[in-house]
Amino acid sequence: MRTFYKGWWISAAILLLAMSLSYSQGVLNENQIKTAVFLSPKFVLGPGSVENRYYYNINFPRGHISLKSFNAEVIDEAGNPVPLHETYLHHWVVARYYGHVEYNDSRKPSESDYFIVRNDGICQKGVLGQYFGLGSETRGTATHIPDPYGIEIGNPADIPEGYEERWLLNVHAIDTRGVEDKLGCTECRCDLYNITVDEYGRPLRPDYAGGLRCCYDQTQCRVRHGFEGATRSLYLRYTVKWVEWDSSLVPVKIYIFDITDKWKRFNDSTGLSTEHDCRVEYDIEPCSATDVADHECINTKRISLTMPTGGYVIYGVAHQHSGGIGSALYREDGKAICSSIPAYGDGIEAGNEAGYIVGMSTCYPQPGSVKITDGETLILESNYSSTRGHTGVMGLFYILVADQVPEPEHLLHLPVKMYDKINRSAYVGAAIVLVGIVSAVAIVQFLFRNKVEDEYQPIMT
Ligand SMILES: *[C@@H]1O[C@H](CO)[C@@H](O)[C@H](O)[C@H]1NC(C)=O
Ligand SMILES: *[C@@H]1O[C@H](CO)[C@@H](O)[C@H](O)[C@H]1NC(C)=O
Ligand SMILES: *[C@@H]1O[C@H](CO)[C@@H](O)[C@H](O)[C@H]1NC(C)=O
Repeated sequence: MRTFYKGWWISAAILLLAMSLSYSQGVLNENQIKTAVFLSPKFVLGPGSVENRYYYNINFPRGHISLKSFNAEVIDEAGNPVPLHETYLHHWVVARYYGHVEYNDSRKPSESDYFIVRNDGICQKGVLGQYFGLGSETRGTATHIPDPYGIEIGNPADIPEGYEERWLLNVHAIDTRGVEDKLGCTECRCDLYNITVDEYGRPLRPDYAGGLRCCYDQTQCRVRHGFEGATRSLYLRYTVKWVEWDSSLVPVKIYIFDITDKWKRFNDSTGLSTEHDCRVEYDIEPCSATDVADHECINTKRISLTMPTGGYVIYGVAHQHSGGIGSALYREDGKAICSSIPAYGDGIEAGNEAGYIVGMSTCYPQPGSVKITDGETLILESNYSSTRGHTGVMGLFYILVADQVPEPEHLLHLPVKMYDKINRSAYVGAAIVLVGIVSAVAIVQFLFRNKVEDEYQPIMT
């Protein structure tokens, strides 16, 4: 009896796999996907130095298309991947804008030259308007969007007369070769950068210990006495995948939520409005000795947010910095919509650097299974280990949302009844496999979490 069940589960699982393969192929032939690899403009870093530049009108696929993925990494002039313990990738951000056709990027843009096309997210005042953006976790984080979904861009009907669609890239990289305190430099601690006024010469708040205001472009983190290291030229190499637009494709909207969002409602001439104030960064206070004894060194930050327009969740991922131990988006009743957990490296090679977040887990709900309603209140949660303090950490959450999911008969050429039946039993099988995997992952994470905390410093010097 036992063997029979075992065999049955395995067949069900294989069947599910086979069906999901034929599913994606039925919708879109693999070879319709186009891939392009681009290099950012060159940036030059020496030990302890910082680059935080904006590159306008970068190379990017053109035309009316549907974006399927965006991956990136820092490489040197020979094309070799550069590990995070040498060049820490604090973040990179890719934003869409409409540039005036007569403005050719030879001078600093003025207001009439361009305007940013923001994502559908709820932050305001010029922050977090990007289409893509991650940090140290870039190499190990899935970004692909399943068929038939994608980010629609380049629709000529949307582009105002006299403008064209362009893209800008911001790369913030910190060279930590030979520095006194690698974690401190990556967390932009002001004392290590000897910074007391911001980029614009304004004095920092006395309690501002670290964050982006202390590691702006051309700042310098403290290097060990006598350390010599050559400057070197680096690039962000980015890979974009897309398909030509056609009406069978379903566009997704990009939402970015920020755990530091101090939003409020107020009445104005148009009625009830919402004002968001996304501060992007926050600090983690170290826990007390009694907390250490009680193993309660977790900083949990939680806010509630309102989703103005809902839809079906197609993808989700969080962005956290070193010390992060997970982030999640819940419904008001506590049901999870997506949780995203960091993976820490345990080696020295690029993509597996010890003590750094080298990937974030992602969510791909079965399309149609997770719907957020218009005006629904959501809870965003971000957890950090507080075994030690941290400055300038982040808690962002990206979701991709579709207004509709295609009717199943448009996707599957299998008899619907059979699909239903097989799928249901296969789900049970898959669920059991999943429970196994999740418990294994939880155990590994538990073991790992404790390890990671004493591994912040080993970060190769
Ligand atoms: C860009 O525009 C400026 C003035 O509008 C012009 O002098 C310059 O030659 C242009 N550069 C290119 C590459 O077209
Ligand atoms: C730090 O900055 C101050 C003033 O900006 C300067 O006088 C001092 O020499 C700097 N210290 C170091 C170690 O660079
Ligand atoms: C965050 O920490 C709280 C308290 O320990 C825990 O209940 C919650 O599940 C954690 N969330 C995530 C996403 O890890």
